[in-house]
Amino acid sequence: MKISAFTNFVCPVEGLSLLRSANSLHCVKGHNFDVAREGYCNLLLVQQKKTLNPGDNKEMVAARGRFLGGGHFTRIADKLFEIVGTIVAESKGSGHLRIVDAGCGEGYYLDQLRKRAVDSNFSATLELAGFDISKWALKAAAKRSTDIAWAVAGNRQLPFAAGSINLILSMFGFADWESFKTVLAKNGQVLLVDPGPDHLIELRKIIYPTVNVSPLPPASKAIASGFILQREESLKFSISLKNSSQIQDLLAMTPHAFRITAKARKELEALKHLTVTVDVVFRILRVDN
Ligand SMILES: C[S@@+](CC[C@H](N)C(=O)[O-])C[C@H]1O[C@@H](n2cnc3c(N)ncnc32)[C@H](O)[C@@H]1O
Ligand SMILES: [Zn+2]
Repeated sequence: MKISAFTNFVCPVEGLSLLRSANSLHCVKGHNFDVAREGYCNLLLVQQKKTLNPGDNKEMVAARGRFLGGGHFTRIADKLFEIVGTIVAESKGSGHLRIVDAGCGEGYYLDQLRKRAVDSNFSATLELAGFDISKWALKAAAKRSTDIAWAVAGNRQLPFAAGSINLILSMFGFADWESFKTVLAKNGQVLLVDPGPDHLIELRKIIYPTVNVSPLPPASKAIASGFILQREESLKFSISLKNSSQIQDLLAMTPHAFRITAKARKELEALKHLTVTVDVVFRILRVDN
């Protein structure tokens, strides 16, 4: 596959095309957005920010980067590419697909997709963009590849023209179905990746006195917004963490880090090995437009 960086961001205020000048993007109505030194653009509106630095903080982003960089979740990236390959193959004749990673974090999965696509023999061209509400995430992501366009932006005000995107990836994120629907092209799809019921169960058993089964988030909101669930696949495997820093990084990249008691934290800090279950569910939803 050929890869190209997405070029058509639109102004998140009213949706007009953004034009590039020196170190910023602007629309004809005079809205200006900075392009950071690292190469990502900042398309997040002040009124979208509930806090000064929304989204994952610097430490969470760094922990996720170290952990994913250790290759523990390579099989998730493999599965992602397998499914995207199927979508490309099924998109009969459409040789050019715009793919956006919504809530891309520090860019691991989108960059893994890019690498696998470059090495594959599909003839399609993938135009790629990743965005996240966390500027820390983007600072890290933008270093991964200049063949991907990177932006700080929120799921609620997407910087893409209506009907322009073929596939949205929403991995362990916060899908906004109404916004997704607006920017998706005819028969556009969302690949939704969520933790399954047994995800990191061994870690959760240390953290919580009683482990609640975490049911898969229902697809009902998506369906209410006009999406059709087309396919669902689970991926389950075990990983073996062999030192304390890997265990600490895994904790730090999850929301469990905010909920853990001092006692459980101590217990976890003493651990040198941990085998954990990875349980992930991939769902493909197609917009009925
Ligand atoms: C669990 S992380 C997953 C990151 C990445 N998809 C991955 O799997 O490595 C969730 C991400 O969603 C981002 N996020 C939270 N609220 C968001 C919003 N409203 N719009 C876009 N991204 C958001 C966070 O900053 C964080 O990077
Ligand atoms: Zn504007």
